[in-house]
Formats: sequence, structure tokens, C-alpha cells
Amino acid sequence: MTTAQQAAARRVAYQLETLWDYDYEPTHQELEALYETAKKNQWNGSTAIDWSRPIGKEGPVLNVAVAFAGTNFFTRLTEEEQKEMEVRVSAWRLSQFLHGEQGALVVCGQLVNSIPELDAKLYASTQVVDEGRHVEVFERYVKKLHKIYPIDPLLKALIDEILATNLWELKLLGMQMLIEGLAIAAFNLMRRQTGDPTLSTLLDYVLQDEGRHVNFGYFALRRSINEMVASKRDRLEDFAFTACDKLFARDEHTGFQSIKWVWTEMGWDAEKIWRDTVGNSQTTKHFNSFLFNDNLLPRLKRLGLISERVAPGYRAIGLVPPAE
Ligand SMILES: [Fe+2]
Ligand SMILES: [Fe+2]
Repeated sequence: MTTAQQAAARRVAYQLETLWDYDYEPTHQELEALYETAKKNQWNGSTAIDWSRPIGKEGPVLNVAVAFAGTNFFTRLTEEEQKEMEVRVSAWRLSQFLHGEQGALVVCGQLVNSIPELDAKLYASTQVVDEGRHVEVFERYVKKLHKIYPIDPLLKALIDEILATNLWELKLLGMQMLIEGLAIAAFNLMRRQTGDPTLSTLLDYVLQDEGRHVNFGYFALRRSINEMVASKRDRLEDFAFTACDKLFARDEHTGFQSIKWVWTEMGWDAEKIWRDTVGNSQTTKHFNSFLFNDNLLPRLKRLGLISERVAPGYRAIGLVPPAE
């Protein structure tokens, strides 16, 4: 990338209305308890996690034997190759979380401005602090482990679209529902697989906060969707479908393909290993099912964002929207 391209990749231009709320009236009953919990459960990334422990030395960061079970390439690796791959894949994956956390931080800053009601602004302000802390701990961890990999192009395009839209409802849908829904599913899986105590503690703390963020998005969206004009609702439905279509790792064209950087670094045929993992990895299959069938689709359905207009699209890519 040239310096000009790098500078362009860092900039997202948008127009956004900032709204005051002079009513000072509660509007979201559910947010009252969530806001109290957010204030009570603040933690300090410097002291909550014991940073003196050696990272990646006490157990595998990502348990590659579990993560790549079922694939052809994994069975042929030597022990040294497995260890090297484990560190690189873990650093690549955690780098994507780190970039996602920074995305959440900047999107939440926008939400404080653009969301109309004050109680929702107050809640969003706690999420800004939460996301700042998440950036801090992931950055610290990844740097200690290995190095920070660049942001995946699919993740970047998705976050840039969320940043550039002038609709706060689409920001909530994109960040709080889809990206944070994806993050929670991935954190849960990683938490189960990791043998590294520092990462376990880090994920436990982060997951506590992320649960609130998804609830915030759900409560605020549910309220606004009821009053939304049809054209705006269509735009939200289409955005959700397109994002699911790209994120659902099912063939050579979908999912976070920048993991191929790691395969290339290892000196392997990146395309071949990508096809092998998408086709054969049990974890990829479980993750897809857990993320889409158990989490994203039921939530989108409850919000009324999988209408008969878009449902056939989901079926066509192999996802089954839940029944009424
Ligand atoms: Fe976060
Ligand atoms: Fe979050």
C-alpha cells in the first residue's frame, strides 16, 4: 500500500446530525437497569488482568488441535509447525478483535451524538468507556503475544459502512447486533478453547461488557423499528442480509479471508488451506451454526428484520430463518 492509500484507508467521511434532548424524560425503561449495571461493573484493564504472567507459555492461546480438527493439512504438520501456526493464527484472530473493538469505540462515539433520547445517549457513553478499555487490553495482549496484523478487508468495509451511514438505527444494527453478536460468539468459542490464563481472564471481563452492548442495541432498535417508515426498515433488512451473506464462511468468496496472510507467511498454499478449513473444519461448521442459527437470525427475526421479502435470500445461501 502507498502512503496515500494508507491515509485514505484511515479516513471515513460522513455527515451526521447531532441531536440534543431537552426533555430529560426517561424513554427506555429497560436502559435504566442496564445503565446502572454498566456503572457498577466498570473494571480497570491495568489491574484486573495479571499482566506479569508469560503470555502464550502456560497453555495454547488458540487450541489448534481443536480449531483445525477435521482438516487435511493439520494432520501433516510437525509439532514446531503447529506451535508457530498457533501463535500466528492467534495473533491474526486477536488482531481482528482489536480492530473490531476500535470500530466499536468510534461508532459508539457517533451514537452518543446521533441517538435522539438522552437515556440512550447516557447508556452509549458507558459503552464508549467499555470499548476504550477493550482496545487497551487486546492491544496489550496481541503485542505481547506476537504482532498486530492489518484489519481484514471484509471487517473494514463493514465497519466503514456503519461509520459512514447517517442512520443511527443502522449503526446500532450493524455494530451492536451484527458485529458484537459475531464477537460474542467468537469470544465464547475462544474462551472454551484457550489454555492461556491471561486470555481467559481478559475474555471473561470483556464478555461481561459485550452482553450489555447487545442488549442495548436490541432494546433501542426494538423501540425504533415499531415506528419506522417502510423504506427505512427495508434498508435495515437489506443491510443485515448483505452482512450475513458476506460473513457466513461457506465458500471461497465469503468469510474473513485475510487468514490467508498467515498461511502465506508459513510458506503454504493459502487458497488450498482456506478451502480445506471451510470445507472440513468442524469448528468452522459449529461456529457458523452457533453464530447464525442460535444468535443472529433469531434476534433479527424478533426485531422484525427478516420479512418475507428477504427470507428467500437467506434460504438461498443456506441459512434458515426461524419460523414465527
Ligand atoms: Fe468491545
Ligand atoms: Fe462492545
